Amino acid sequence: MDKNRVIIFDTTLRDGEQSPGASMNLEEKVKIAQVLEEMGVDVIEAGFPIASNGDFEAVQAVARVAKNATIAGLARATKGDIERCAEAVRPAPNHRIHTFLSTSPLHMKYKLQMEPEKVLEKVRDSVAYARSLVDDVEWSAEDGSRTEHDFLCRCVEAAIDAGARTINIPDTVGYAVPDEYAALIAMLVNRVPNIDKAILSVHCHNDLGLAVANSLAAVGAGARQIECTVNGLGERAGNAAMEEIVMAMRTRPDLLPYHTGVKTEHITRASRLVSAVTGFVVQPNKAIVGKNAFAHESGIHQDGVLKCAQTYEIMTPESVGLTRSNLVMGKHSGRAAFKDKLRQLGYELGDNAVEDAFLRFKDLADRKKDIFDEDIVALVDEAVYRD
Ligand code: KIV
Ligand code: ZN
Repeated sequence: MDKNRVIIFDTTLRDGEQSPGASMNLEEKVKIAQVLEEMGVDVIEAGFPIASNGDFEAVQAVARVAKNATIAGLARATKGDIERCAEAVRPAPNHRIHTFLSTSPLHMKYKLQMEPEKVLEKVRDSVAYARSLVDDVEWSAEDGSRTEHDFLCRCVEAAIDAGARTINIPDTVGYAVPDEYAALIAMLVNRVPNIDKAILSVHCHNDLGLAVANSLAAVGAGARQIECTVNGLGERAGNAAMEEIVMAMRTRPDLLPYHTGVKTEHITRASRLVSAVTGFVVQPNKAIVGKNAFAHESGIHQDGVLKCAQTYEIMTPESVGLTRSNLVMGKHSGRAAFKDKLRQLGYELGDNAVEDAFLRFKDLADRKKDIFDEDIVALVDEAVYRD
């Protein structure tokens, strides 16, 4: 694989599903997995097989339909979890066990109630056991961004020695900021002796709204896998949004000279499917997939976009699977957009008729928040009828 290729690991079906209220049934998971695979996602984390029989069956069903994407399942550092996970992912031609253990002082003391040396031993044993069952093992240092550096280096080295091919450093609680997180990744690249035997991965939560920025900063420091979700779904404030990551790389190759295998034209479709299945409405001003992401209401912007789209658009609507920019008709719209709308609706009016309709449209827009095509049709037809 070329050195600037970034692996996209989608965890919509696992971490995304951990959003309270976002659970998905087996058929829904299979449908989403198929869209993700068509999109060119490299790894699909399909669930947490030990969590329930339903989750096990869903992961297995996704594994059965997968063709190219690697299907991963999550497992804690126990034999039972790892065996159940191996069984669930095995039907996929390419499959992975993703096992994890907390490494931060806080998690080791309160959550695991385990001494660091015991944690290190468990890292070795769990990864080695997973490797005895499958070839492709990923190990995650849960709460990695709050882990003491020397200890993190020892854990990462041990996991690689035990056979992990991917090492993931999650910012589990979304606490990191970009420079700090990039420095952590760079520290691992510089200090762990066997680091070149594994792919470094990042998994950022969005508690401070920095998940995408942290992920991109980490890639600059040497990470080559990003874990993310469609629409940024995920625990609490969510995970890094896949659509933002891939479009940032596509739009700014000058500063982000990396690429993914994602066909970005599938983004809108995937976003709408995940939103429909989970019932999580995408906020209108959400980057890339919000309904206003390619909408222009102000007259100045509408006029600019009609003359040359790049005046107010840094990416084309087509690049994310939309057909065209949306000029929203409202009280800020100008004559240029209004005329364009009339043309779209099939009207060829003379200058006086356009002016008359435009003034009445402005009047209506002051009274009515949303102006639909039907309102404009009514407005023009009323004038034609009146004359
Ligand atoms: O946020 C996290 O630390 C996780 C791990 C299980 C990878 O989701
Ligand atoms: Zn997570």
